[in-house]
Amino acid sequence: MKCDRQTLPIAAIREENASLRTFTFHGNLSASPGQFIMLTIFSEGEKPFSILDVDEKSFSMTIKNIGPFTNKLFSMDVGDLVSIRGPYGRSFKRQTGNILMVGGGFATPPLRFLAKKLREDDVKKLVNINGAHSEEDLLYVEDFEILCHQSHIATDNGSLGYMGTSVDVMEQVLQNEKFDQVYISGPEKMAKAAVAVAKKHQLPYEVNLERYMKCGVGICGSCVMDPTGFILCMEGPIVDDQTLDKLEDFGTAHRGKTGAKTAL
Ligand SMILES: Cc1cc2nc3c(=O)[nH]c(=O)nc-3n(C[C@H](O)[C@H](O)[C@H](O)COP(=O)(O)OP(=O)(O)OC[C@H]3O[C@@H](n4cnc5c(N)ncnc54)[C@H](O)[C@@H]3O)c2cc1C
Ligand code: FES
Repeated sequence: MKCDRQTLPIAAIREENASLRTFTFHGNLSASPGQFIMLTIFSEGEKPFSILDVDEKSFSMTIKNIGPFTNKLFSMDVGDLVSIRGPYGRSFKRQTGNILMVGGGFATPPLRFLAKKLREDDVKKLVNINGAHSEEDLLYVEDFEILCHQSHIATDNGSLGYMGTSVDVMEQVLQNEKFDQVYISGPEKMAKAAVAVAKKHQLPYEVNLERYMKCGVGICGSCVMDPTGFILCMEGPIVDDQTLDKLEDFGTAHRGKTGAKTAL
């Protein structure tokens, strides 16, 4: 397992919307779509974030300001130091052929990274569905338009694209087109609904799962899923269809800070 630690200044901050920012770092990170890093703020501890993009000289993550840790990060400026370890976890297994990506909310960074890599692989057809509550919450609309052969949008309030969820659009797209692989990343309830649709169409799929993680390297047990004891930080966060079928916790329960399990 590769687990380099780098202490780096924030190189750039881009405002995506009122609560989401993309943080870029100059450094080398050899990562694949779906992998994540652990980001340390020295006064606050550390938290996991998906990798949005990497190139030879830099890498970035898009982060939502949601609690104490991310609040602190949002108070920091370009030049301030944080520390990053990783990359960790299993990435998406890239397939060629006709590919459908289904994303929701602020869980779309891994799909943005995957789209870039699939186009480099010269995938036959790449279709993305990007869903969010409203237009302001949608991420990377232009990027997906450029990277994908087709790019669909769904908003709960109908402010842009189809009024409804990305899973509703998935149903519609699958009525007219054939695919070889589905990749899913979104809130777990949405992912569960997308899995049901993929199963109905007998399509192979992989899902990005985000659970409470403390160590990111298989030591603390906070991300373990029942009943198989699947260690999400090491064996995921990208989970294939056969593995997911065995995880009764998927879409039903998760562990919080104390390790106690609660219903989703
Ligand atoms: C593999 C992985 C990848 C992630 N990638 C991203 C990303 O790219 N961008 C991003 O903004 N966030 C991402 N997260 C979630 C991120 O780690 C949490 O939002 C962050 O830890 C919140 O910290 P906080 O102290 O600001 O808020 P807290 O006060 O800790 O949490 C605020 C709210 O977020 C929920 N939460 C906390 N941690 C998680 C978690 N791990 N998964 C789901 N909900 C959580 C809490 O239950 C609470 O409702 C990822 C999580 C995982 C496990
Ligand atoms: S986060 Fe500690 S074992 Fe997965």
